[in-house]
Amino acid sequence: MESFKHHFPIFENESNQALAYFDSASSAQKPKHVIEVMNRFQTSSYANVHRGLYRLSAESTTAYENARRTVANFIGTDENHIVFTRSATEAINLIANTWGTQHIKAGDIILLTEMEHHANIVPWVMLAKQAGAKVEYASLLPDGSLDMKSYEKALENNPKLVAFTHVSNVLGTINSVKDMVSQAHNAGAITVIDGSQAAPHIRLNMVDIDSDFYVFTGHKNYGPTGTGVLYGKKELLDAMPPWQGGGDMIETVAFDNITFAKAPAKFEAGTPNIVGTVGLAASIEFLNALGWGVIETHEKALSEKLEAELINFNGLTLYSRAVNKIGVFSFNLNGIHSSDVAMVLDKCNVAVRTGHHCAQPLMKALGTEHTIRASIGLSTTEDDIDQLISSLHKAQKMLG
Ligand SMILES: Cc1ncc(COP(=O)(O)O)c(C=O)c1O
Repeated sequence: MESFKHHFPIFENESNQALAYFDSASSAQKPKHVIEVMNRFQTSSYANVHRGLYRLSAESTTAYENARRTVANFIGTDENHIVFTRSATEAINLIANTWGTQHIKAGDIILLTEMEHHANIVPWVMLAKQAGAKVEYASLLPDGSLDMKSYEKALENNPKLVAFTHVSNVLGTINSVKDMVSQAHNAGAITVIDGSQAAPHIRLNMVDIDSDFYVFTGHKNYGPTGTGVLYGKKELLDAMPPWQGGGDMIETVAFDNITFAKAPAKFEAGTPNIVGTVGLAASIEFLNALGWGVIETHEKALSEKLEAELINFNGLTLYSRAVNKIGVFSFNLNGIHSSDVAMVLDKCNVAVRTGHHCAQPLMKALGTEHTIRASIGLSTTEDDIDQLISSLHKAQKMLG
């Protein structure tokens, strides 16, 4: 199997050469292309955007707005639908604080699922508290997939907004987002999809999915931290009030009257993350250059290998058992705390994530407080998987 590890300079560093990195779901390592593009931009074309009439500012503005087009193409839409944010978290908060405060009223229902990241729970619970609305949750099946019967039943209560993850950050489960959106629309709801774990692994098309809003975060997508994307249907973005006020989001400001810029500028107050956004576009160039066929085949092969190893591992409880999933696996070694296992793995040069993974309601549904999570990305190799499995055996022997 081909390895793509050579694209990631962090593994050339002497202290990381033997590292098996299994935490891409938390944050992906950065490809050389992204690092180089950001470096080149800062040493050749950087200035503030949208303001200056001089050459550098024009170049910087072009790079920033080209990045918007690159992101739009990446998810099958056009640039008028793309708002840049600091993160997926900020994008969800933006929706809650604009569309949410405008439309969610006392007695309304917001429907989530039990597999959400806190980023797709807390802003809605805060909004519901403020508005006197109620938050409900669709439940899961024992294999870690969404119980569609529970989802359909919950839709019978006519929620005003339905927010769900495209892919679970804990289990790797891929939700049937297209069907879920269409069912939610039939029930009269607006939909928000958290695509943070989907964007780096699944080819996205906003027209096909048809969600009203879709968000993802740059740093899991091989881009830099401090970058996020909010996709919104144009008529919704146009009708939403601004959230944060400041420079760049206005048309005119008088002492007693302000008119706002059109979306997306209306939602991008202040100097944006110019360098990060250019880096985010570079991460998409990196993925496009590899091609979705190659990415999906590569990650599927690695996932199948790791899944088979985990299923055959005696004394291991695997929580990620959905048929339709990406390479994110949650498990525990029976009778051993996940943190103790992670410490042994660290000594063996294996980086995994442990804890509740910002998904405490999901942990409750799974009947545990913590898991070990191993997630696959484009930097993962077959050798990394062998290193993880042999290190898990070591940990079991030492701690069991
Ligand atoms: C499914 C999911 N949603 C949202 C987030 C939040 O991403 P960020 O912290 O970049 O806003 C994460 C990060 O772990 C995630 O996995």
